[in-house]
Amino acid sequence: MTGQLEGKVALVSGAARGQGRSHAVRMAEEGADIIAFDLCDQISSIQYPMATPDDLQETVAAVEATGRRIVARQADVRALDSVRAVVADGVAEFGRLDVIAANAGIASFAKNTWSITEDEWDDMIGVNLSGVWRTVAAAVPAMIDAGNGGSIVLTGSTGGLRGISMIAHYVAAKHGLVGLMRTLMNELAPHNIRVNVIHPTGVQTPMITNDYMGEFLGEYPDYAKYFVNALPVENIQPVDISNAIVYLSSEAGRYVTGVELPVDAGMSQRV
Ligand SMILES: NC(=O)c1ccc[n+]([C@@H]2O[C@H](COP(=O)([O-])OP(=O)(O)OC[C@H]3O[C@@H](n4cnc5c(N)ncnc54)[C@H](O)[C@@H]3O)[C@@H](O)[C@H]2O)c1
Repeated sequence: MTGQLEGKVALVSGAARGQGRSHAVRMAEEGADIIAFDLCDQISSIQYPMATPDDLQETVAAVEATGRRIVARQADVRALDSVRAVVADGVAEFGRLDVIAANAGIASFAKNTWSITEDEWDDMIGVNLSGVWRTVAAAVPAMIDAGNGGSIVLTGSTGGLRGISMIAHYVAAKHGLVGLMRTLMNELAPHNIRVNVIHPTGVQTPMITNDYMGEFLGEYPDYAKYFVNALPVENIQPVDISNAIVYLSSEAGRYVTGVELPVDAGMSQRV
């Protein structure tokens, strides 16, 4: 059976682990070749371990196990030239670009908005908002040049739909992505390139399954109530987000653009 993304090429940021790895593998299963990159290093204001070069190698192996090809690089969404270099290498190898999954992100918590340190604020906006803009800015020209249309999916959060205490910097960045998506949608529609945001609820990845998160919730036990889903599931799986990206980027989603798609087990509408 033909895959839903047969013959396409997909760029994935933050591809070393978690949702990014799942997006790379899932799109490869549907027939896409993958251009993957990740920082694979620690950011000093982030208090849980970030991905490593070995993690990125695991993604490479998992994509290759599907029979598809992958170009994988270490690169930082905070450095436009480094993302441009990844895109150039990938497009030189595969000759086109059809999908951008702007997924790389970080998380940190503070007692309240006025306790967020300047480093925490700047790192958050630098990665979760400006980093998504840089990913798109670096990759869109290749997508337009290829002339095949395309799909850009930005990873938001339920924190892009409402204010959540103790993460104002994360919430501001994820709301910002919605504005970025709305403008890009208008600019890119004439090229038949669609742009959407997915808002995941809690996803079982090392971003939330770590000691720092456990300690934070121990200190503020009431906080967990902000993250309760309507459906009876504690956290969803990375593949649940990957499947939504496949849908949005496939023929089935060909006229879907400019939308915010919550994949949130009903969390944002729960009363
Ligand atoms: N896990 C959740 O509960 C959850 C919920 C909603 C939204 N999200 C969002 O989903 C996305 C993926 O997160 P995840 O859950 O897979 O977490 P994760 O920590 O497992 O993966 C994030 C990846 O992004 C990479 N990254 C971070 N900074 C980078 C940079 N400057 N340049 C390149 N790569 C960088 C990390 O190294 C890591 O591999 C993020 O945008 C996150 O905000 C996560």
